[in-house]
Amino acid sequence: MPHPPLRLGVNVDHVATLRNARAGPNPDPVRAALLAIEAGADGITAHLREDRRHIRDDDMARLKAEISKPLNFEMAATSEMLEIALATKPHAVCLVPERREELTTEGGLDVAAQHNALAPVIARLNDVGIRVSLFISAEPRQIEMAAKLRAPVIEIHTGAWCEAVNDGHAAKAEAEWQRIVQGAALARSIGLEVHAGHGLDYGTAEKIAGLPEIVELNIGYYMIGEAVFVGLVETVRKMRAAMDRGRNNPAPALSANQASKA
Ligand code: PXP
Repeated sequence: MPHPPLRLGVNVDHVATLRNARAGPNPDPVRAALLAIEAGADGITAHLREDRRHIRDDDMARLKAEISKPLNFEMAATSEMLEIALATKPHAVCLVPERREELTTEGGLDVAAQHNALAPVIARLNDVGIRVSLFISAEPRQIEMAAKLRAPVIEIHTGAWCEAVNDGHAAKAEAEWQRIVQGAALARSIGLEVHAGHGLDYGTAEKIAGLPEIVELNIGYYMIGEAVFVGLVETVRKMRAAMDRGRNNPAPALSANQASKA
């Protein structure tokens, strides 16, 4: 059976990081989003952080108004962000954990512990037809709680795996990879749509593209860095090609029985 297509969501946060290093309007994350779409991105992701360190309210509004592909609005589950998301009406909201002092989104959302606070936010977004995704680590208790909370989508946090790969920690990388493989199979088997992201580069994106349960990758930091050297259009094309290669050489799938024991 052919595998479902794998979408590429390009995260433009770090175009805004660069812009914010000076006071002016350049480089513009919306221009980057338009170019990424022209080059083959299937959607655009942006994270409006509480401290507005990269994407600002006006960027999110302009992204929604100007791009022709789905906007994935990443945010913490706060009342301020919920109001902005409801007003912006993006295609999707990805709920992420957020601490001011962190460099990036360092771990997954602990939905197992925070279900009472998350439930009303997910319900409000579900009610207005915004597709909710929960950014979690590939742990069975988090995945099962995501389904209980009626989030239609999870995004598996790939940061620990990518870091272990980059640091050359083979045993840790293999353990993290197995967690992702089993988590993706479990999530799919209980009806969740599965996305993945954080820290991916050409190599890790190619490998994870082989998991047929995963239908979307959200990638930012590495691509914006690569764009400095080869341009954003070339970077999107190369990422798309890496994902397509990986999709055509899938890792062996787990049986439903293995997945339920994961
Ligand atoms: N997905 C989510 C939910 C994220 O928070 C981030 C980082 O903002 C990404 C994907 C993209 O990660 P990276 O910038 O490391 O590719």
